[in-house]
Amino acid sequence: MDIYGFSAPHIPVDLLAAIATSEPRLWIYGMDAVHGAFRLTHLCAVVAFLGPVIVLNLAQLGLIAPSSVQPVRAALTRMVKVAFGIAIVSGLGLFVYDPIGAGLHTMFLPKLVLIVVGYLAAQWPPAALRQGPRPPIRRVFASLSLLTWLSVMAASTWNHIEHPVNPGESSSLDEGRESSR
Ligand code: HEM
Repeated sequence: MDIYGFSAPHIPVDLLAAIATSEPRLWIYGMDAVHGAFRLTHLCAVVAFLGPVIVLNLAQLGLIAPSSVQPVRAALTRMVKVAFGIAIVSGLGLFVYDPIGAGLHTMFLPKLVLIVVGYLAAQWPPAALRQGPRPPIRRVFASLSLLTWLSVMAASTWNHIEHPVNPGESSSLDEGRESSR
């Protein structure tokens, strides 16, 4: 199925259809207030997550004096963890609200992969190695983290503005593809 005009890898359609016809989805579908609440929660969680991530990463890169961040580091780290959890749960809510529309977005699967990459990058170095001198490779991980979360934002924005190809456009799209073969 290629409703957005790109043949990008996506979550299997059978799985999306099963979620779309599941009881919880049929129950919430059409409730604009629930959809709005998921979206508001998701966007607020994203802001609360990205803000501290950027501050912590800039401190790791030395672009903000680490000593000025030190007094609030523990609070920022807690905020990142809580906001991340809320972003995941509200994101799942948004997805379940419209599994086919959201799941087939060109950048939906890449976004999920990027979130896993960003999460794994944040686990390094392990707690035992966080004492003592900071290895220079820490800057590499901080840069990777910033790049990854920026890409998650770009993918999310793309998904939001992407609309299904209308049938008229889709036939001219197919012709264009045929002629380019
Ligand atoms: C920390 C991780 C995440 C970040 C930074 C993030 C970011 C965003 C942003 C900024 C938007 C709004 C886009 C716009 O209105 O232009 C959005 C929408 C959305 N997010 Fe997330 N998100 C995250 C995690 C997730 C997860 C884990 C899921 C699903 C399992 C998810 C599912 C969605 C859905 C379905 C939308 C509506 C747009 C669409 O159809 O894709 N998000 N996200």
